[in-house]
Amino acid sequence: MFKIGALVSGGGTNLQAILDAIDRGEIPGAQVVTVISSRADAYALERAKKHGIDAVVLSKKDFASADDLMEAMIGHLRKMEVDLVVLAGFMTVLTPAFIQAFANRIINIHPSLIPSFCGDGFYGLKVHEAALAKGVKVTGATVHFVNEETDGGPILLQKAVQVQEGDTAEVLQKRVMEEAEWKIFPEAIRLICSGAVEVVDGRVRRTTR
Ligand code: GRF
Repeated sequence: MFKIGALVSGGGTNLQAILDAIDRGEIPGAQVVTVISSRADAYALERAKKHGIDAVVLSKKDFASADDLMEAMIGHLRKMEVDLVVLAGFMTVLTPAFIQAFANRIINIHPSLIPSFCGDGFYGLKVHEAALAKGVKVTGATVHFVNEETDGGPILLQKAVQVQEGDTAEVLQKRVMEEAEWKIFPEAIRLICSGAVEVVDGRVRRTTR
């Protein structure tokens, strides 16, 4: 069994896409064994509960420091024997200690074609506002491994999405989710779970499996 721990802060539509893909049998051997939310009111927690998945709230305000919070998160994920940490809309910055604890075993989804519109300050609607302000005709989503550079880790999968005349940031955000995020996130997990990818020299390459 390949055990996934999902970190969430919000609506959890990406978590839902992963759970649905697993339910449809599209990620053989994988199971989401725990969900950690940074907020008690995240709807993602309801989605976890509906699926009977262990769900805990670990919030910055309940810990003396970011290091203490990360230590608690690491402890919980280790206790649950998690093989892969999935950032599914997680809004708390991870510390180097956390990233090192799960080196090359953390993936994130970002709603643009990295290296465009990414890095510090590019989150949520801001990403799509920046894309519209630049006037790009194509945007998309990227799944990448997490390293210590914000949105800078090895790229696993990307999918392009057309920008359309008259798009607002909200409309574009929805299209990027539907056409790209909800598809490539489960697919990225399938690739890792099946041993089809590895990180070599800071880049993701397909193995022969
Ligand atoms: C998504 O846009 C994702 O790209 C970003 O955070 C958002 C999470 O949405 N990392 P949801 O909670 O999965 O609905």
